Order: sequence, then C-alpha cells, then structure tokens
Amino acid sequence: MPRPQHIGVVTAGGDCPGMNAAVRAVVKAAITRHAMRVTGFLDGFSGLLTDQSRPLGFDDVAGTVALGGTMLGASNRDDPFRVPVERPGGPAYEDRSHVVLATVARHGLEGLVVIGGDGSLTIARRLEARGLPVVGIPKTIDNDVPGTDVTLGFDSALTIATDALDRLHTTAASHHRVMVVEVMGRHAGWIALEAGLAAGGDVVLIPEIAFRYEAVAAGILARARRGRRFSIVVVAEGARCPGGGTVVRQIVEGSPEPVRLGGVGAVVSHALEALVSFEVRYVVLGHVQRGGSPTPFDRILAARFGVAAVGALADGESGVMVALRGQRVERTRLAAMSPEPRRVDPHGEHVATARGIGTIFGDEG
Ligand code: F6P
Repeated sequence: MPRPQHIGVVTAGGDCPGMNAAVRAVVKAAITRHAMRVTGFLDGFSGLLTDQSRPLGFDDVAGTVALGGTMLGASNRDDPFRVPVERPGGPAYEDRSHVVLATVARHGLEGLVVIGGDGSLTIARRLEARGLPVVGIPKTIDNDVPGTDVTLGFDSALTIATDALDRLHTTAASHHRVMVVEVMGRHAGWIALEAGLAAGGDVVLIPEIAFRYEAVAAGILARARRGRRFSIVVVAEGARCPGGGTVVRQIVEGSPEPVRLGGVGAVVSHALEALVSFEVRYVVLGHVQRGGSPTPFDRILAARFGVAAVGALADGESGVMVALRGQRVERTRLAAMSPEPRRVDPHGEHVATARGIGTIFGDEG
C-alpha cells in the first residue's frame, strides 16, 4: 500500500477522558512525522454516514490535551452495519456500510483511525474487511477491551471513583451507615475492584463473582463486631443480583450494545437494609466517571496510542489495534481479538490481593 497522505479520525462509542488527547496526538503525529492531512468525522460513525466532518490542523487541537469529552462528538448508537429504518411491517435494520466507504472515497482518505471500545472496534474490523484501511485505539472507562492491558479513559474513571469513595467514607463513618456505591462496568468489574482496592472499599460486588446478600451482610456485621460501625459497598453496574440477574435501565435500539444497565445500587441497598442493623444509603456515580480532565496517565497513553496508530497507517498496516502490553505499545490484529470482553480474573492476583486485605466479595461465609 502506498504511504497515506490523507487520513480520517473518528471518536466512536461512549466518550471518556483522554479522547481529545488522542485526537491531538493523531493530528500532530500525522502532520509532523508523516506530512499527512487529517479529517475528523463528527459524532462517531454517524459523521461517516452523513458526511459531517472538519479538517484538523495544529490550531484545532491546540490546548485540548487536558480537555474531557471529545471535540469531535461521539455516539454509541450508530452502527453502519445495522441502521434502523422505517418499514411498513415495523422496525427494520439496513447495512449502510457502503455509505461509509463512499464518504471515505469522496474525501480521498487512505486510512481511518477509530478511537473506540469493543463495539466500535468490531465495526472497524468489519469496515476493514470491506476494504477500508483502519487502525484502532482502544478506549473505554470499563477497561474491558480484549488484547490490551489497559484502555484509554480507565485511569481517569478510576481516579474519579476513588475520590468519590474517599469522600463517601467520611460521611459513612460519621453516620455509622452502609454506603452502597454503584460504579460503571457492564461486563467487567475493573472500576469497582480497583477503586475498592485504592479507597478501602469493604465490599466489592462485580460481574465476575456471584454473591449472596447473606454473605455480604455477614461481612458487614463482622466488621461491626470489630468496632467498624460503617461499611462501603462498591457495586459494578453489571453485577448479577442473586436470583435476579443484571439490572437493566434501558434498551437503546441501533446501538452496537443496546442494553444499558443501571439500578443495581438501589437493589443491593434495599436488600441489605433488611439484613443489617445499619441505615443504608446508595449513590450512583454514573456518567460523572466519564467526565472531566484526563489523568496524566491517560494523557500520556493517548499520546502513545495516537502516535503508534498513525505510525501503523504510515507503515501500510491495516486491521490492527494499538495496545498496551506490559510497558510497551504494540500492534495487535483486530481479527484476532477475542469476542469476549476482558474480564477480571476471579482467581487472579488483583482479587487475591483484595481478599488478602479483607475485601468481602459476598461469595464466602
Ligand atoms: O462503556 C462505557 C459505558 O460508560 C459503560 O460503563 C456504561 O454501561 C455505558 O457506557 C453507558 O452508556 P450510555 O452513555 O449510553 O448511558
């Protein structure tokens, strides 16, 4: 493949801190290292379907490294392979990936950087199979993209969740309450587990470990007998309630991942109220975890991923994702990506460490 001279960039899926820093790195690396032009598409894959774009130069990305969200806009409901259409017989879906390819051809693009989570990277892989040179940058606060040790945005969300737990700790202790804190993480409990570890969460409930309310309550009461008259319960939104499964808030048609979770914090809170002698309150951190300025770790990761992604396109690579493996940024084939999210290993070192410092997962006792 000849060296690309004009590439596109899109921020797809849910937003997260660090996306702007990644766009900035893509633009700066493309211009300074490879003499390429860059076009940014707006609102995720929607911009490629409707041809909404803007040229991106140095001035457009200046001062954006610390900016949360994405200046290009994002969408987690526009799958070009499954576009909802009105049909007399009811809702139907159409493959409009050819429209994306036509947009790319109209702009004369020779490559596309997709900054996205597992849903968006699956779309990227399918577009590549249709002939579009793509390179992916894995981002999601959930940290569940397979093939990379860390995703862009996770460290920032973890920092926000840790800060929230620190704050809730003092009010829980003052009122001798159980505080249930619902954090994001639909398939994987990374935020719950790591924020719990960082902030001294007493109970951590994650999708990967089935829990029983009686075991959670027993742990809270055992703490009380040791003089700890409060507890912090961190629950991932994707945790499965005993006998009830996950708590679904909404179904978003046309989204690569239509199920939106939410509400498990309230369910756990009400169940525990009946089993412990403390007042119980719950807090849902929700989209606060996706907002604000990226941490230094995420800013640096964004720069590393952005530079590596453009480098891959310049080398004539396509169908790869840049990934952090250990200390190194590497390329990994999108087609070889596991279809399963990268989950917490219930028998792994993180969980063992948490158990080692007395964290209750609700599966013992
Ligand atoms: O994947 C990122 C994420 O923030 C999940 O943690 C959460 O379940 C989902 O997106 C929320 O989606 P929405 O922004 O559509 O409510």
